[in-house]
Amino acid sequence: EAAETTTASSAPINPSIRKDSDKVVDTVQADELSKPLTAYCRCWRSETFPLCNGAHVKHNKETGDNVGPLLLKK
Ligand code: FES
Repeated sequence: EAAETTTASSAPINPSIRKDSDKVVDTVQADELSKPLTAYCRCWRSETFPLCNGAHVKHNKETGDNVGPLLLKK
């Protein structure tokens, strides 16, 4: 049985973060990380963007998606 393929959507990925900006870019000084583990949002739904606040859990439940954060280890 062939795997189901999905078509890329032309809809924006970012629903609400800094929409007045042409491009959302964040810079992190790696040597200034304060915690041993920091989670950065990749679902574009965190209210603490660029940090993950767990909003991906609700997004995944509602959409069947499987997105999660980028973890930076010190
Ligand atoms: Fe976006 Fe966790 S809230 S990846």
